[in-house]
Amino acid sequence: MRFPPAPRHSAAWSTWQWLRAPYPYLDLLVKDLGETFTMRLLRFKLVVFTNPEHVKEVFLDNGETLEAGRFNQTLAPLLGDRSVLMVDGQKHRRKRKLLLPPFLGERMQVYGKTMLDVTDDAIDSFPHGKAFSLHEPMQDITLRVIVRTVFGFEGARLEEMVRVTKRVLELGTWPPLLIPFMQVDLGRFSHYGRFLRAVEESDGILYDEIRRRRRDGTRGPDILSLLLDARDEDGSPMSDEELRDELVTLLVAGHETSATGLTWAMRWLLESPEILHDLRAELEALGPDPAPEALAKSALLDAVAREALRLVPVIPIVGRVLAQDRTIGGWDLKKDDIVVCSIYLAQRRPDAFPDPERFDPRRFLDKKLSAYEFFPFGGGIRRCIGMAFALYEMKMVLARLATRTELALEQGRALGMSRRSITITPTDGLRVILRKRRPRASPSGSPRAAVAKTPEMQSAAT
Ligand code: HEM
Repeated sequence: MRFPPAPRHSAAWSTWQWLRAPYPYLDLLVKDLGETFTMRLLRFKLVVFTNPEHVKEVFLDNGETLEAGRFNQTLAPLLGDRSVLMVDGQKHRRKRKLLLPPFLGERMQVYGKTMLDVTDDAIDSFPHGKAFSLHEPMQDITLRVIVRTVFGFEGARLEEMVRVTKRVLELGTWPPLLIPFMQVDLGRFSHYGRFLRAVEESDGILYDEIRRRRRDGTRGPDILSLLLDARDEDGSPMSDEELRDELVTLLVAGHETSATGLTWAMRWLLESPEILHDLRAELEALGPDPAPEALAKSALLDAVAREALRLVPVIPIVGRVLAQDRTIGGWDLKKDDIVVCSIYLAQRRPDAFPDPERFDPRRFLDKKLSAYEFFPFGGGIRRCIGMAFALYEMKMVLARLATRTELALEQGRALGMSRRSITITPTDGLRVILRKRRPRASPSGSPRAAVAKTPEMQSAAT
């Protein structure tokens, strides 16, 4: 047999389950079919690997036989064809070199203060005693952090960029848009048409900024400044179009993902009062206003962020398309076959993670895991460029939430999961109630004291 076992139900039903509730569907498939199986969707088949040895085979490929850019093509209308996520081979190697420097671990301290300030602003805007969806302020925080760190925008320009990016993402993360035949432009009467108009507006701002910076030579500590000056081996800079695609990629890839990881982390923490208590104690022991670097070194904080990304990964799978015939996990696969590593299933294997359904951050304190057992950021030559940034940001935001707020889950609400395009979020964005808020340690560092409020927040703000 060329393909691992597949379920007997139709591809249409499979597609529906995959779009509606991917994690329960993956649980069902692994239970019925074993650790390696085939998922038949309407337009293609995915060979799904979950065994760390097989994941290793995929991640050790140097990009010659397995192509991620081809797998990521559904995101092309949003990110553009030149984005690092869309290209393979030599083009991809060039892009990684140009894009990596702003995201190296040692640069994180530059961004830490912004991350803390933006979180403090958001916490000051939480309504008191009235339920709200935590995912919304988490999105607002991560979007503001990425806009400020990438562009260095403040004031009116920050607000405009935040508004336009929200609109693009709101329209672009509608799950049916993942299906190519839904990508039809019928003007403003179609979802896709409205999405394209929003992308045009966002492009206008991005191109204006790129051209202005090139013209004036304006540079700062922001990521765009580093990218404008980046040169490849031939000494060539990125073109305006390339820069536009990479900026949109950073805005999209670096915003919704981190917000979702944060919302899940808070869900588990609010259900685990003992862990939250220990976390608070560990953070408070660092003093009234610890530096970002001190917070980043908190072992339990780091473990909480990782365990949240293990238990319900933000992205369920990473995929590659075969550029030529090859064997993976003993299966003889052919050119153009699609293979995916299931982050979710691999991270719930009881051999690597005893009692895998339990939220237990301490498992990260005493065990070193391989990059093929725990890989919420994918792996190999395609591993997430923003990994250090995302972990640092999650730690800054969680530290502030843990020490400045007392939140409770709203009673009587289902605690399920829902798909938002390629990410999986808590249902209804996790409804919580603020019981207590402690004052911020340092005065507002941002020119704007409050993060944009949701309608609930506006009506309930006290
Ligand atoms: C919790 C937050 C995040 C998660 C869970 C996440 C996850 C991922 C995953 C699974 C991949 C695909 C890797 C593969 O194919 O092997 C990826 C790629 C990528 N991510 Fe992230 N990401 C996060 C945050 C960020 C941030 C903050 C940025 C940038 C600011 C970012 C930028 C990228 C880019 C540019 C790629 C493409 C890498 C390539 O194709 O070479 N991500 N991410």
